[in-house]
Amino acid sequence: MTNSGISDKLTLVHSDIRGPVYEEALRMQNAGKKVLKLNTGNPAAFGFAMPESVKEALTRGMDGAVAYCDLRGMPESRRAILSYHTGKGIKDLEMDDIFITNGVSEGVQMVCLSYLSYGDEILLPSPNYSLWENCTHLAGAKPVFYQCREENQWMPDPEDIRSKVTAKTRAILIISPNNPTGAVYSKEVMEEIIAIAREHDLAIFSDEIYDRLVMDGLKAISPASLAPDLLTVTFNGLSKSHIVCGFRCGWMVFSGPKEKRLPLEEAVTKLCSMRLCSNALAQLVVPAALEDPESTREMLVPGGRLYEQRETTCSVLEKIEGISFVKNRAAFYLFPKLDKERFGIHNDQQFALDLLHAKNLLIIPSSGFGWKGNDHFRIVMLPEKEVLRSAMEDLGDFLSDYKQK
Ligand SMILES: Cc1ncc(COP(=O)(O)O)c(C=O)c1O
Repeated sequence: MTNSGISDKLTLVHSDIRGPVYEEALRMQNAGKKVLKLNTGNPAAFGFAMPESVKEALTRGMDGAVAYCDLRGMPESRRAILSYHTGKGIKDLEMDDIFITNGVSEGVQMVCLSYLSYGDEILLPSPNYSLWENCTHLAGAKPVFYQCREENQWMPDPEDIRSKVTAKTRAILIISPNNPTGAVYSKEVMEEIIAIAREHDLAIFSDEIYDRLVMDGLKAISPASLAPDLLTVTFNGLSKSHIVCGFRCGWMVFSGPKEKRLPLEEAVTKLCSMRLCSNALAQLVVPAALEDPESTREMLVPGGRLYEQRETTCSVLEKIEGISFVKNRAAFYLFPKLDKERFGIHNDQQFALDLLHAKNLLIIPSSGFGWKGNDHFRIVMLPEKEVLRSAMEDLGDFLSDYKQK
């Protein structure tokens, strides 16, 4: 227990996406200022609408979703998920390998609690999305960060991963497409990571929440399809691809050798039974959503909102002196780099606060993603392109004479 009477399990838990800079933005809004909040990947908050297919499925099936359902999720929905992931090359899946959860977020908590013991280590990417680090802390385990290399399109560095494996390492996390970098990992890199997992008998956790939001003709590869011999848990959901973050609709797929998969599934089943079932209304729409990839695809091609918003943001940013970036190939995040010398930045949270105060513009500093350099920040490219254009121009204007004190 800490001095405040709160469990010390929470001491290391943080969420800067909704952290101190965000709190300051809320305070400014409450005081009557109009703040453009580019902090969360929440498409519906920026005028994106859920597809008609999803809306229809919801209204059609509503009455069927008032009872508790199977603790793993409704059979029809799990069947659709099974077929989706089989289509992505994962072999030998059975219905009981699929668990529907209240978002990927709940699934990650369940797997970390079930798989990691006190003192175990898990290899997480840096920069990283804080959910994974937080769930690791709550499980009493230790996150160990491997580097993704900006100079290599933000791909993970397999040598760095290898150098960080210890006798306590239990799993490697892959997030592709990635938050916050928007990188889509190549098959070669995936295979190198899998080889390390194979050498050391590690599980692979694969967070694929952005796998349907890929641009530029690329494809998101599922590591489980390349590693049928390894225990793999694949996480996915509808929050982003079908604009239903609020539904809390995610799932996990367990694959790999039965002797490894079944004990973990059994442990996760215990946790699922404690919460009876996940939101049944949200589960209703899964088959319709997975049969409707078109509404997602439309946003990602020239003329589509996500594509055009990215292009506009990048076209303004590339003219700002002191900023460089790797263009995202998926999702709606960009993780630009600031020239630290030029701007004298020693505290990136202060940079974010200074920008917020000067331009009413909220971004998240890189320290919120476990990035040590104090020299990056994340932009969420979800507002309409003209709003983004003007926000990036404001950023350029702010940086034209910025020097941190
Ligand atoms: C990489 C990643 N995983 C998981 C989540 C959470 O997904 P869900 O809404 O399904 O809980 C997010 C949300 O931003 C994310 O970026």
